[in-house]
Amino acid sequence: MKLTLKIWRQENAKTKGKLVTYKLSDLSSDMSFLEMLDVLNEQLAVKGEPAVEFDHDCREGICGQCSLVINGQAHGPESHYTTCQTHLRSFKDGDTLIIEPFRANSFPVIRDLKVDRSSMDKIIQAGGYISSFTGMAPEANAIPIHHDIAESAFDSAACIGCGACVATCKNSSAALFVSAKVAHLAKLPQGKIERSERVLWMVNAHDEEGFGSCTNTGACAMVCPQEVQLLDIARMNYEYNRAKCISK
Ligand code: SF4
Ligand code: FES
Repeated sequence: MKLTLKIWRQENAKTKGKLVTYKLSDLSSDMSFLEMLDVLNEQLAVKGEPAVEFDHDCREGICGQCSLVINGQAHGPESHYTTCQTHLRSFKDGDTLIIEPFRANSFPVIRDLKVDRSSMDKIIQAGGYISSFTGMAPEANAIPIHHDIAESAFDSAACIGCGACVATCKNSSAALFVSAKVAHLAKLPQGKIERSERVLWMVNAHDEEGFGSCTNTGACAMVCPQEVQLLDIARMNYEYNRAKCISK
């Protein structure tokens, strides 16, 4: 198949970027989207032109590194898929694809399609952990947890920290990301020690890193590759209000 790519090229956060057009042919529809970018970069290398920079690692939907907006949609046209799980069969022969980085004030462009998402790491550093004794690993069944609670905590823990929720939100809010971690740990006994402080620390870090406020549009959950639920945001709000009341 043939595709026309309009790709965002930008040298760094301080320079202006622009869409540059590339034409590719002889592509297999079974090729992954990132393989298609590899093909483009091979062709650019032969011509002595700089490669298009983009983030990726596992290419299996696990690490959350891939981060492209394809035709205006974070992670591309397939619902609840990562960019690396997207294949060219999702597009038609002859299509024009506009490929941009995840856009948010808290995600400055590093180069081309690659953005700095360390603002999300700072939120996790603020409270996305539990206190635990070091030494021998504790017996796995020492703390019984109801199956339904364990499953629900697993669903929240599935967040891969990709940032698609931020890139999609009109307010650039990371509420779904923060709520996934807050809800995951609030549901489990191991997370109870820092339960009240965690939500305050993480929400404060979210605001300090310049993410916007959540206005419950639900756009984030529509694109989340891990299907993190809006219910987690409700849980985060509950935990936040509870912590505020306790701290008074
Ligand atoms: S909540 Fe979903 S979209 Fe947001 S960072 Fe986690 S996995 Fe990505
Ligand atoms: S490269 Fe790891 S999730 Fe896409």
